[in-house]
Amino acid sequence: MEDLLNKAYEEGTKVAASGNVASYIPELEKGNPEDVGFVLMDLKGNYKARGQYLKSFTLQSITKVITLLLALEDIGEEEVFKHVHMEPTGDPFNSIMSFEVKNPEKPFNPMINAGAMVVTSLIRGEGKKEKIERILKFTSLLTGNKETHYDRTVYESEKATGNRNRSLAYFMKSTGIMKGDPEEILDLYFMQCSILGTCKDIATIGAVLAANGIHPVTGERVIRKENARIVKTIMTTCGMYDASGEFAVSCGVPAKSGVGGGILGAVPGRYGIGTFGPALDAKGNSIAGIRMMEYLSRKLELSIF
Ligand code: DON
Repeated sequence: MEDLLNKAYEEGTKVAASGNVASYIPELEKGNPEDVGFVLMDLKGNYKARGQYLKSFTLQSITKVITLLLALEDIGEEEVFKHVHMEPTGDPFNSIMSFEVKNPEKPFNPMINAGAMVVTSLIRGEGKKEKIERILKFTSLLTGNKETHYDRTVYESEKATGNRNRSLAYFMKSTGIMKGDPEEILDLYFMQCSILGTCKDIATIGAVLAANGIHPVTGERVIRKENARIVKTIMTTCGMYDASGEFAVSCGVPAKSGVGGGILGAVPGRYGIGTFGPALDAKGNSIAGIRMMEYLSRKLELSIF
């Protein structure tokens, strides 16, 4: 096992240099493309780790898993999916095209930016302050950390430059898909994307999902079994955006990536995986993360298919 993990890490470091850190959010450009790390955690909370596994990074789109879980816990499956579909798009995560071309009555899935913003708008709470506090608290429940914070500088950087998301929100407002105040929802979404975590944190969330809602460290149920199942399914079909099909074949693990460089994986009944590597491929997925997940999947036979 130790050799296998060393090899997985080596594979990740080899490819890291061939990607680029995200630059469309200026603050993310400061990421070190050579950082690589991962955690493989079993369902009792025992874990093996390599590299920069305790380095904090912004979870970005990985938080779409957290907010979808919270919305499901808050208002239930029926209500959530009245406002967002569960169909993969094959389009980039911030694509606006399909809204005008297909004029859907709701966003295609909760993992693209448009769908995630709508999901965030469904979370219970009076105004932004209470909602972000609930999201942070729920993140702590999943990771087992005492507290969770968001990175103010990354949040401000994204808020200042997030014009694509602003366009998406206002487009959805114009067609009636988005209820509520777009500025408030955008602000909340930017805060949520800036939530900080480590490989170990996302591996722990992966382990919760892998164990159908039971926390690996405390042994307590933290989310409903049914909600863990729904979220793992949507991660499989939509979690790696327009690379989800290819990733399902090459790795076969329900996963969710973020442009901060993280990938959260949940291997049902076996492991939570968290990888980190800020150098991304053209689709916004961590190059080292994908390589390490594929390697681990092949060697440990993790594919669910
Ligand atoms: O909204 C955005 O564009 C970013 N805050 C998050 C995008 C993201 O992480 C896509 N992931 N691969």
